Amino acid sequence: MENYKHTVASLIASQLEGMETADVLELLEYPPNPQMGDLSMPCFRLSKTLRKAPLVIAEELQRSIPTHEAVERIEATAGYLNIFLQPAVFAKNVLTEVLSAQEQYGSQNLGQGRKIVIDYSSPNIAKHFHIGHLRSTMIGNALYQIYSFLGYKVIGVNHLGDWGTQFGKLMVAYRLWGEEAIIKEDGVTELQRLYVKFHEEAEEKPELDDEARAWFVKLEQGDAEANRLWKWFVDISLQEYNKIYELLGVKFDSFAGESFYNDKMAEVIQELNDKNMLEQDEGATLIRLDDYNMPPALMMKKDGSTLYHTRDVAAALYRKKEYDFAKSIYVVGSPQNLHFQQIFKIVELMGYSWAEDMVHVGFGQVSLEGAKLATRKGNVIMLEDLLRQSVDKIREIMDNKHSVIPNKDEVARQVGVGAIIFNDLSTNRLKDVVFSWEEALNTEGETGPYVQYTHARACSVLLKAGELPIADSVNFELLSNIEAVGVAKELYFFVERIEQAMNKLEPSVISRYLVDLAQAFNRFYHECPILKAENEEIRAARLVLVQAVKITLRNGLKLIGLEAPEQI
Ligand code: ARG
Repeated sequence: MENYKHTVASLIASQLEGMETADVLELLEYPPNPQMGDLSMPCFRLSKTLRKAPLVIAEELQRSIPTHEAVERIEATAGYLNIFLQPAVFAKNVLTEVLSAQEQYGSQNLGQGRKIVIDYSSPNIAKHFHIGHLRSTMIGNALYQIYSFLGYKVIGVNHLGDWGTQFGKLMVAYRLWGEEAIIKEDGVTELQRLYVKFHEEAEEKPELDDEARAWFVKLEQGDAEANRLWKWFVDISLQEYNKIYELLGVKFDSFAGESFYNDKMAEVIQELNDKNMLEQDEGATLIRLDDYNMPPALMMKKDGSTLYHTRDVAAALYRKKEYDFAKSIYVVGSPQNLHFQQIFKIVELMGYSWAEDMVHVGFGQVSLEGAKLATRKGNVIMLEDLLRQSVDKIREIMDNKHSVIPNKDEVARQVGVGAIIFNDLSTNRLKDVVFSWEEALNTEGETGPYVQYTHARACSVLLKAGELPIADSVNFELLSNIEAVGVAKELYFFVERIEQAMNKLEPSVISRYLVDLAQAFNRFYHECPILKAENEEIRAARLVLVQAVKITLRNGLKLIGLEAPEQI
């Protein structure tokens, strides 16, 4: 697309000796209000290099910049150079681009096929999938979509928590108090109950802990019975998780969890040893990180069993070897900040320069308004219940609005689930989120349903319009009113926002963008009759705008993992 910022930057650069377009691009800003133009350059930032007062720079540029069809006028105000774009040319360029690119609008080939590994979701086997894992899942999925849209090859990894001493505990608990039939019936709920019972009992009888450790050692050494039980616990848990992934519409390229690294451990320990990084401490093996102001990382227990740390070091090395990533991202809650700092440091100390390509994408906690998350003994709210409740509530809203669409159940799922996802992604990821039904489901608020309803509104206008005009045939002068220009500007921002979301690893940039676009469109919709426009020409121009909004909302929703039903 004709990139306006670029055009303007090169016009300005042509008047400044020794400055390139790229230098000017850095300086251009979007002014906070339209009276200050569409783009603005604070000239004080040039006064040092040019040895001139900002006022003088602005005025000289204002006089010397050559005319261009895209630029309506340029003003020099208080040391700022304010550029006003020609609205019809602007609208023409943006809308033509959106309509021709369709579902590709906003995409770019920045990645050139370079690889990005994203580790997300990664729940712990034999425990319920909780609301924190939902956040990881949705942030990870959004980053997956965003990177792919920008030309990267993404590998999504679900690093299942399927290994560790807790499995020894579960085996002991199952053998003492468990019943196959109940586990088959109640699944993870029963596994979690057994695990809780183990801890209660072990307080009285510490020998249970020894037994549990012994069972985990057996598992690590390939004992048949231990492996059979372990595999069964994994299957039971995956059944529950897969139901959730299906509801959410999330997929993974690999389910290589912690257990996957079991046979790769010896080699890692050997390498660490060869590199003189290991220290013995009362029988345990660890890596000291005092020099980096971090506590030591335990790599092996007395009994030779490995730990979460060990498996993450192995996973980091494996992923580099297997995928040769340009970046390896871990979407895991902020309480694990230290863990990842340790892992990244260890890999660096092993001498791998690519350690700097590993990034921890942390996030804040989610809590439920009013109620505590602890609704069950198992101590976390079941995510599946939350999603299903949301779907039911949306169905109720649809019924109240007398929705008569044929695929009501499917749409209620898309909007109900979308509401939860959007809510999760609507604030800066590092912030804690308080979940409130009223806010998440408000079809007029800054929510998923609001954006989805706006998209459906655009679809409905287009459907009623019948045959649609093509962009080339339209008189873009008719889109010069403030509401239409407001929409066109938002459409234009989409491309930049996606890049921003990627650079900041922050999907909320997209969710906020979608609310802005939806709001701009709704202002337009309320001010400017479309189907009943004054004449055919205006109607056609407005319909082109509506098409572009529909495409862009849909593309944006997809990037954060939401569907875009045409009717609600
Ligand atoms: N299973 C862990 C948890 O629930 C998250 C794992 C994240 N990924 C990793 N490579 N450590 O806390």
